[in-house]
Amino acid sequence: MTDESPARRFASTESYYAEHRPGYGDALFEFLAERFALGDESRVLDLGCGAGQTTLPLAERAGHVLAMDPNEEMVRHARRRASEAGVETVEWVVGSDADLRVEMGPFRLTVMGRSFHWMDQERTLDRLFRATEPGGGVALVTDREWLTKGQANWQAAVYEVTEQYLDDLPERVDPAAVSYDDPWDEKLRAFGFEDVETLEFDLHREWPVDGIVGYVFSLSYCSPDRFGGDAEAFETDLRARLTAFDRERFEQRATVEAIVGSKPTDGDRSV
Ligand SMILES: C[S@@+](CC[C@H](N)C(=O)[O-])C[C@H]1O[C@@H](n2cnc3c(N)ncnc32)[C@H](O)[C@@H]1O
Repeated sequence: MTDESPARRFASTESYYAEHRPGYGDALFEFLAERFALGDESRVLDLGCGAGQTTLPLAERAGHVLAMDPNEEMVRHARRRASEAGVETVEWVVGSDADLRVEMGPFRLTVMGRSFHWMDQERTLDRLFRATEPGGGVALVTDREWLTKGQANWQAAVYEVTEQYLDDLPERVDPAAVSYDDPWDEKLRAFGFEDVETLEFDLHREWPVDGIVGYVFSLSYCSPDRFGGDAEAFETDLRARLTAFDRERFEQRATVEAIVGSKPTDGDRSV
């Protein structure tokens, strides 16, 4: 977590996020719909909804979605994308995890896509447990950010160009060598969720050059604001570097991870 206000973390990335951050694929949402028996009667919370990459597929499967994000501009993009898709069953709220209230529920399911790491996790899980209907649950969803964790040569090249411009770029790491000392599955159990499981869904993505540039600018630590007056020069260098690969599209094998847990049907928290 950073000291920055939640509303500012993605400042200036919003239009890039809306256009270039990929979705998670259908398999994840089919799984969630089945496991939590989503249908017309279900209320789902999308906490940290961003530009709607999680909201829209949830709205296809649940009668009502409450989509919440502290960044007003993100919510504006999400709203526009929903309206373009003819989705009218989403209620939009500008607010962070700190604004979450138990009375906003009950929810059948809460999804936090690439957003849980920004939150006060204990407070959020405590409130969510109480706001979840018995038999409902939560899903922590993420896909591996590829600028720092992708293993392909072209991904390393994008990193090399980016680090010439940004001093505080997170280190490039081999995901196989990273160990987490804060497992989220244990956290879900500690707050009373049961049948906790971690699932992986493999995806194949192809990135055009415009998409790669847009992806980099969509990352909170590579926002156009962070490049400042160098944003244009960076983009020119990056495009030149990618041209050297002599390809129009770049392949990525992506893994979407979901950690899910259910509230016991008797609603009890026995921990
Ligand atoms: C990487 S985006 C994820 C958006 C979307 N859920 C997705 O999966 O594409 C992270 C979002 O979390 C939001 N965020 C940051 N801090 C937050 C907080 N404390 N509570 C809720 N959302 C937060 C940001 O504004 C941003 O829109």
